[in-house]
Amino acid sequence: MSDIEQTLSIIKPDAVERNLQDQIKNEFKNNGFEIIKEKKIHISKEEAEKFYKVHVSKPFYNDLCNYLSSGPIVVMNLQRDNAILENRKLMGATNPKDAEEGTLRKKYGLSIDKNSVHGSDSVENAKIELDFFFKD
Ligand code: CDP
Ligand code: MG
Repeated sequence: MSDIEQTLSIIKPDAVERNLQDQIKNEFKNNGFEIIKEKKIHISKEEAEKFYKVHVSKPFYNDLCNYLSSGPIVVMNLQRDNAILENRKLMGATNPKDAEEGTLRKKYGLSIDKNSVHGSDSVENAKIELDFFFKD
């Protein structure tokens, strides 16, 4: 059984800075994802803190929020069957050093913090994260 799902993807500042957004968008399209919505934005530190509030107690939280607000990002609503899990598989492990061959983080990630892409990790968080960026 498979369900059509939507998930939030972010092309992070390190990848936008290297002008990889079209290449990464093609990776999604070539892997069966439809880009339902997308926008290029530059969020404030306060917005990054709100987006990543689940990580507030982590030692990397402050650096993470500084980083996500350090430059333009591309946020996308991606749709396909099992989009949440399929996107996590396509992204690969959080640390590019641990990511499998062919995954986005293996191909494009520079380090555990500059790992090029974000993807929602559950149905519940996908809804919250899509609302965060796309609720009008
Ligand atoms: O992004 P993902 O869901 O794979 O990982 P996470 O555990 O939810 O962490 C969110 C983000 O924090 C990661 O994508 C990394 O960019 C960053 N992070 C970090 O800088 N240092 C760590 N030790 C763990 C995560
Ligand atoms: Mg996560």
